[in-house]
Amino acid sequence: MIDQRVVVTGGAGFIGANFLRFMLENHPEYQIVNIDNLSSGVHTSVRELEGKPNYKFVHDSISDPLAMTRKIEEGDIVINFAAESHVDTSITNPTKVFMNNVSGVQNLLEVAKMKGVKRFVQISTDEVYGSLSISPRDPPSTEEDKVRSRNPYSASKLAGEQLALAYQNTFGLDVVVTRSSNNFGPFQFPEKVIPLFVTNLMQGRKVPLYGTGENVRDWIYVEDNCEGIWTVTEKGKAGEIYNLGGGNEVSNFDLTHKILGLMGYGEESIEYVEDRQGHDLRYALEGRKAMMLGWRPKHDFSSALESTVEWYNDNEQWWGKLKEDKDRRTS
Ligand SMILES: NC(=O)c1ccc[n+]([C@@H]2O[C@H](COP(=O)([O-])OP(=O)(O)OC[C@H]3O[C@@H](n4cnc5c(N)ncnc54)[C@H](O)[C@@H]3O)[C@@H](O)[C@H]2O)c1
Repeated sequence: MIDQRVVVTGGAGFIGANFLRFMLENHPEYQIVNIDNLSSGVHTSVRELEGKPNYKFVHDSISDPLAMTRKIEEGDIVINFAAESHVDTSITNPTKVFMNNVSGVQNLLEVAKMKGVKRFVQISTDEVYGSLSISPRDPPSTEEDKVRSRNPYSASKLAGEQLALAYQNTFGLDVVVTRSSNNFGPFQFPEKVIPLFVTNLMQGRKVPLYGTGENVRDWIYVEDNCEGIWTVTEKGKAGEIYNLGGGNEVSNFDLTHKILGLMGYGEESIEYVEDRQGHDLRYALEGRKAMMLGWRPKHDFSSALESTVEWYNDNEQWWGKLKEDKDRRTS
């Protein structure tokens, strides 16, 4: 019998859509409610899940107090993925990003407190640690390290997670926070680097590489992050932050060449473009604390990248229209 509800906010987005599938496949004992306002997420990522008896989609915003009060129930587990997740949007429109990632989170926390939810999981990011040095090489960030947000997106995510922890400390709401590294895998929107490059090459276009490509990111396959999030939800200690890193530090230059190699293209397919303002040089996570809960990333980076390329090859009907709409908006 299903008696426990998991409310996933932002489940029509990239990680949320993967998390919903992870839960429905591995934990059918839960009733899953996906609340998304489709501001950046798309219904096509989750439509095939409708019809499953233990899944429900609700089109609402975490910023709407009345809607959240109606949809969240006592004893729910709430996992908040909902966010304006684009660094570039946070540079062109920081207000929009703060409305979602800070005010929206505060609204959700207030409802969670009022309703008496069982656990509130706030999905945060490694970007809150700010930029690490490459030479000399800083050690990967631990949960105890100083935070140094360096762009409005990262500052908004830091504010969101700190608000959640403040609700734990002040009101006794049961809160855990995850900070993951860069995710990749199916259902990632074609404006993010891996799907952008893969789909550009599929369309015979070049791949736009920021600056010299020296920036380093730690990549985690999205399924590993989903497993980590659920491990922290089930076993994490209230009031704690857990890094979820993939252990795959790769420069954008090397990533680009890996994708080109996998798809049979060469250096001539790269178009070097002006670097992003305030582009952080390197992120890397030390993940011992989450591993103490029994989690570790399982996927090998190169094979997961290869299967991601295959997924985009097989799913043009999902990304083609999204990319066309984006091209139309920016032309
Ligand atoms: N993608 C990554 O590599 C990465 C890394 C670390 C952390 N994160 C965090 O993980 C979470 C999910 O990231 P993602 O890449 O899936 O982002 P995404 O943009 O693909 O998904 C975000 C989802 O939230 C929804 N949303 C936005 N505002 C909302 C609101 N007010 N009410 C309801 N829904 C709303 C969007 O419609 C979208 O479906 C975010 O909180 C992000 O900050 C992402």
